[in-house]
Amino acid sequence: MTKKITISSIKKAKGVRPLVMITAYDALFARLLEPNSDMILVGDSLNMSFAGKNDTLSATLEQMLYHTNAVCNGAKNSFVICDMPFGTYTSKEEALKNCIRVFQETSADCVKIEGGVDKAEIIAHLVSNGIAVCGHIGLLPQSVRSEGGYKVKGKTEEERIQLIKDAQAVEAAGAFCMVIEGVKAEVASEVTACVNIPVIGIGAGSGVDGQVLVFSDMLGLFEEFTPKFVKKYLDGSALVKEAIKNYADEVISREFPQEIHTY
Ligand code: KIV
Repeated sequence: MTKKITISSIKKAKGVRPLVMITAYDALFARLLEPNSDMILVGDSLNMSFAGKNDTLSATLEQMLYHTNAVCNGAKNSFVICDMPFGTYTSKEEALKNCIRVFQETSADCVKIEGGVDKAEIIAHLVSNGIAVCGHIGLLPQSVRSEGGYKVKGKTEEERIQLIKDAQAVEAAGAFCMVIEGVKAEVASEVTACVNIPVIGIGAGSGVDGQVLVFSDMLGLFEEFTPKFVKKYLDGSALVKEAIKNYADEVISREFPQEIHTY
């Protein structure tokens, strides 16, 4: 996957092959993820795993611009999504002004907006002004304080109907794909079948058009908590701690540096 995927090929992948999305926050990891991902998401989850905050809400546009630039620099052939942080798309005008900054100050290919029916007008305004949008429905991390926690969606008939309406509104507004987070698997499959654009799941089962995971979760680097939907493909924190201990031991014993590390 060395050539950047286009919006048209992302749309065409629906029903043909699953799409791979992973988050990255810097050039170093973006470069490592690039060969095996269709899309790299600069998620505002960086506020938790990178900046050490309790939730995503205090992430700023300046932070997202900085990290999006870093990712674009590291993965020049990747399709990069910049997550619009909380409070930057409260009105059509505000959203357009902030998304224009993302497009002018980074090489991001699109932005991601949390919300469904309630954000459809804003998404349509962005799309009609040349901003490509990836939607985000279901569990919305930016609503964690107003909802009093991270609540899995699709458990009631009312939520099921709302999710379908949200997905259809996001599609009708012109988004080219959407993330669906924290939704009962059978409902996420139904939602996926109700729209013609790819639906990328996180904690939404396997009946969707692709998957996204936060890189620090799937590499086992984020120790604070592990959501049920995360599969750890590496015991990153144990490996890093072991390496650092080996280094510290060798510094203390003067085993490092050796001749080969010396000018
Ligand atoms: O911020 C993020 O990393 C996200 C993913 C959880 C989809 O929005």
